[in-house]
Amino acid sequence: MSGASSGEHSQTANKSLFFRRWLANPLQMGSVIPSSATFSRLIAERVQFGVDEVVVELGAGTGTITRALLRAGVPAEKLVVVEIVPEMAQHLREIFPGVQVVCGDGFDLPRVLEQAGAGRVGDVVCGIPLVMLPFPTQQKIVGAMLAASPGRGFLHLSYCITSPLPSAKLGLSGNRLAWTMKNFPPGGVWRYAPLQPGPRRGG
Ligand SMILES: C[S@@+](CC[C@H](N)C(=O)[O-])C[C@H]1O[C@@H](n2cnc3c(N)ncnc32)[C@H](O)[C@@H]1O
Repeated sequence: MSGASSGEHSQTANKSLFFRRWLANPLQMGSVIPSSATFSRLIAERVQFGVDEVVVELGAGTGTITRALLRAGVPAEKLVVVEIVPEMAQHLREIFPGVQVVCGDGFDLPRVLEQAGAGRVGDVVCGIPLVMLPFPTQQKIVGAMLAASPGRGFLHLSYCITSPLPSAKLGLSGNRLAWTMKNFPPGGVWRYAPLQPGPRRGG
């Protein structure tokens, strides 16, 4: 990208890339525009990770949450971003030097992270739209996130007022941590955790 830093990259260009991708695949994008700065900050402020852990962001789009995570204090070298659309992954690499951006499928998360040499994982932030997916597909992505960060659970952003996932049926507890009207559409931050936490890797 020509000389612009991550924080300065044109909002218009981001929105236009996002909208083009929505036209190409609305279900994969889930929204017509990126998350607002307020919504992104609400998510980033709730992320937890240990000194020996990385934070994983799934479905980063044009990087509004990535930017908020960096601003909230996640060091660039402790952030691993997984985005399925090659054009978006390339865009993220250009605007976030130092962040490991993987063009890959969140449904294959443990293998994607292993290939990236990501190491131990703290919180996973899931930006992939899950609410419209059939239950077996939800089970698959939840299983992938729990396998990547055993015993931990994950954060999920959603536009639903009620839980976007059938938490009990998935063996999860689900809590809405925050809600904002300052997003289009209004959105909430959810934390899901396994009802029966498995052992942490290496611990
Ligand atoms: C609702 S957008 C969220 C984008 C960004 N996090 C934001 O809040 O503005 C969903 C993003 O998830 C990506 N995505 C969808 N399915 C995915 C998958 N299986 N693996 C990785 N990324 C995926 C889409 O390409 C899109 O960028």
